[in-house]
Amino acid sequence: MHALEDHSRFRAVVDTAVDGVILINAEGVILMFNPACERLFEYAAHEVIGRNVKMLMPEPYCSGHDGYIANYLRTGERKIIGIGREVLGRKRSGATFPLDLSVGEAEEDGRPIFVGIIRDLTERKAAEMAQAQKMETVGQLSGGIAHDFNNLLTVILGHAEALSMRLKDQPDLLRMSDTIIGAAEHGAELTRRLLAFSRRQRLQPDVIDCNDLLRSMVLLLRGTLREDVELRVSTEPDPVLALADATQLESAVLNLALNAQDAMPDGGALTLASSEVELHRGSLGSNIDVKPGRYAMISVVDEGSGMPPHVRERAFEPFFTTKEVGKGSGLGLSMVYGFVRQSGGHVTIHSEPGLGASVRLFLPVATEAAKPPSKSAPETPSAGGHEIVLVAEDDPFVRGHAIASLQDFGYRVLVAPNGREALRLIAGGARPDLLFTDIVMPGGVSGWELAARARELLPGLKVLFTSGYPLESLASRGHVDRQAKLLAKPYRVAELARRVRETLNAPA
Ligand SMILES: Nc1ncnc2c1ncn2[C@@H]1O[C@H](COP(=O)(O)OP(=O)(O)OP(=O)(O)O)[C@@H](O)[C@H]1O
Ligand SMILES: [Mg+2]
Repeated sequence: MHALEDHSRFRAVVDTAVDGVILINAEGVILMFNPACERLFEYAAHEVIGRNVKMLMPEPYCSGHDGYIANYLRTGERKIIGIGREVLGRKRSGATFPLDLSVGEAEEDGRPIFVGIIRDLTERKAAEMAQAQKMETVGQLSGGIAHDFNNLLTVILGHAEALSMRLKDQPDLLRMSDTIIGAAEHGAELTRRLLAFSRRQRLQPDVIDCNDLLRSMVLLLRGTLREDVELRVSTEPDPVLALADATQLESAVLNLALNAQDAMPDGGALTLASSEVELHRGSLGSNIDVKPGRYAMISVVDEGSGMPPHVRERAFEPFFTTKEVGKGSGLGLSMVYGFVRQSGGHVTIHSEPGLGASVRLFLPVATEAAKPPSKSAPETPSAGGHEIVLVAEDDPFVRGHAIASLQDFGYRVLVAPNGREALRLIAGGARPDLLFTDIVMPGGVSGWELAARARELLPGLKVLFTSGYPLESLASRGHVDRQAKLLAKPYRVAELARRVRETLNAPA
């Protein structure tokens, strides 16, 4: 009587379950198939009971299945038992769909049977895919905008600096022009974050020990964060070597620390940690484009307000912020995301409202052997000179700014609005010592081609390139000389002067 009651209760539970419930024996034969399974796989229970469960699996799961069970029964190796593995299921129509599978083991008449709980992931996957596509689109859009802004900011910054230099004895006007410089620098910082998000930033990856990096940031963070934020750094005894751009990584960690502080208005602990970890395929969830393997991990964990799902899901989007107008740009996490992805890594957020947040950066591991020989500190050449510089730049504002700055530093300047004109000048007898050229220019002759052809006419001509794009993204446009000297836009006058001098001084 009791057994029967138990049985009907069990039946009622299983039949009502939203998730699929399936029972199989050690041979893989289906013993039970609940209504949720019928909906998911589009088979009626009587069509599948007594048949092998492999019929519900596409390859490679299908061929591997007998082996899994046999192996488990023989060795007890828990390859199939466990919670929440992502696999594919196969419907009657042959269509496959993603599902989350948890498997438990039970016993019936002294023989093992297996219980599978199946959750459909189709909708979640679609939503994740849509979100990924949105990020991609927004990245392209913002990258394009950031590039144009770079040009404009180069002009604003440059001219304001030139003004400030001339206004030294007019304090009122000087203050105005210094304000312009301040605002333009702020704009340049936002532009940099946007470029980072769109993965178009110039990165200089190097082997870094994440332990060292975190320890060296303590002073900076202590000086930046409020006193009620208790900073804890937990590092490993062994080095945690990552291949990444150290400056960008520092600014990523700083951004995360500031977010943590904002989330803890009444103070709390902020824990930074680094370790080397293994990412398995199963643990990667839907991140299809992340390779399993070893990663250097930096985690930033706070005890703050945490994030509800709708915030967590959108947190990486540029301009997404829950902060008051004027308080947050919504670009902090965007920068972190773009930087880590461009570095070949991966970033995750775990957070629940009221339970704090944990952000983890997974960066490609590096081996000590990969460490490039440490560069000797470059000597800073004194700026200025009297050589002839040929400026090839299509943007009239940027061009005007470059000419004025170079003349201020004593150089003689020749000008061309595009590559073709620049070549015509050289062919006509101009003898510049240095070519300062934009890379992407209209008119069919790019900066690269201009440099190559100019050097045919003037062997030994020094060349300094400039671009709003990083070398990495220019590479996709063909013939990139990775050794080329590149001055990234927007540049400061002093930087322009320094790089021009340095290029002129370099051996031919
Ligand atoms: N540690 C955290 N705890 C709780 N919420 C967070 C945390 N980090 C980020 N968030 C949420 O994600 C949003 C986006 O963060 P993001 O760093 O991109 O922009 P922001 O901090 O709002 O502005 P910005 O960083 O540009 O000053 C935040 O507004 C906040 O709602
Ligand atoms: Mg932020």
